Amino acid sequence: MIISFEGLDGCGKSTQIDKTLNILQSSGKKVKVLREPGGNTVSEKIRGLLLDLDNNSMKPETEMLLYIASRAQLVREDISRLLEDGCVVILDRFIDSTTAYQGYGRGLDLETIRVLNLFATENGKYIPDITFFLDIETEKSLSRVTSRGEEINRMESEDIDFFDRVRKGFLEISRRDPERFSVIDASGTVEEVFGRISDVLRKRDLL
Ligand code: TYD
Repeated sequence: MIISFEGLDGCGKSTQIDKTLNILQSSGKKVKVLREPGGNTVSEKIRGLLLDLDNNSMKPETEMLLYIASRAQLVREDISRLLEDGCVVILDRFIDSTTAYQGYGRGLDLETIRVLNLFATENGKYIPDITFFLDIETEKSLSRVTSRGEEINRMESEDIDFFDRVRKGFLEISRRDPERFSVIDASGTVEEVFGRISDVLRKRDLL
C-alpha cells in the first residue's frame, strides 16, 4: 500500500503525515515515511541540487529530469523493498508534484511528464493507492512558508502566479482521477484536517 501526500508548500503536509504515521502504527501496521525529492543517499544529493538557491540558472527541463531521476532511485532502492516487506509506504510528495509544479507551474509538456513518471515508477507498478491533496489558498500557503522563519529554498522563491498555476494543476489532476485522489480541505485546525484524512483512511479499511 502506497499513500502519497501532495499540496503547496506550507499546506501543513508534514504535520498531517506525522499524525497519519502515528495512527497507522498504533493500529499495528509497519509504516515508513519517505520524502521526495530524497529518501536515500543518491536522491538526497539530487535534492540538494534542486533546492539550492545558487542554482537559479537551472532550466525547467533539467529540473524536471532531476525530480524524475530522484524518483527512479527511490522506487528501485526503497519503495519496492518496503512493499515486499509488507510496509505501508507514506510518500511526502510523488509523481503528482512533477505534474503540478513542472507541468502546470513551469509549463512543460504534460504528456512527456506522464511518460517519464511511468518510467520512474517501473511502468506504473508503483503508483499510490491513495493520494491526499491538501488544498489551501495560495496566499495562505505562501504566508505560512515565509512565517516559518526558515530560509526559503529555490522552489519556494517563485512568485504567487507560479503557485496559483500549481494549485490549479493539483485540482485538475485530482478531478481527473477521483478514485485515487482525496482532496482535503486543509484550512482549519490540525485536528479538523486530520479528521478529514482519518475519515478516508477508515473508508479504505486502513483503520
Ligand atoms: P520541500 O522543502 O520538501 O517542500 P515541502 O516541505 O513543501 O514538501 O521541497 C520540495 C520542493 O520541491 C517543493 O517546493 C515542491 C518541489 N517539487 C517539485 O517541484 N517537483 C517534484 O516532482 C517534487 C517531488 C517536488
